[in-house]
Amino acid sequence: MATNGEAQGRRVLVLHGPNLNLLGEREPEIYGRVTLPQIDTELRRLGEELGLTVDSFQSNSEGALVDRIQAARGQYQALVINPAAYTHTSVAIRDAIQMLGIPVVEVHLSNVYRREPFRHHSTIADLADGRIMGFGPDSYYLGLRAAAALLGATRRESK
Ligand code: DQA
Repeated sequence: MATNGEAQGRRVLVLHGPNLNLLGEREPEIYGRVTLPQIDTELRRLGEELGLTVDSFQSNSEGALVDRIQAARGQYQALVINPAAYTHTSVAIRDAIQMLGIPVVEVHLSNVYRREPFRHHSTIADLADGRIMGFGPDSYYLGLRAAAALLGATRRESK
């Protein structure tokens, strides 16, 4: 794990897919009561602790997510993404991530393997450096820590 300051100056983009804007009200028995603004606030705070600047973006639109991934090129050093339902369907998000060329951590609040079979497939699983799921909001926080660790490792390798 990267020590504090090791990844100083690094920027991490966190993307949230469709319906995650309704966290807190949406199927709380699956997704819990924590809201997306609360998650984003904690991600920014944790980012400071890890020496990372964290920007978050949520959209219900596949195209808007693709646009944001494209715009991230050269601007961010790692991506943490919960593509939500697009995880299971989106070749467009996969293609955009393939062009990004930075560490990618896939996160999910729920353990998709405990749910319906159609949720078991992810179009980005093989592009991600790692996947974290099943821990509710902690999946995001663990995902950010994983991104910090990947950036620390990248930096050590490039010395
Ligand atoms: C999700 C799992 C997806 O299957 C679902 O469509 C979501 C949220 C999760 O975080 O557990 O919207 O990505």
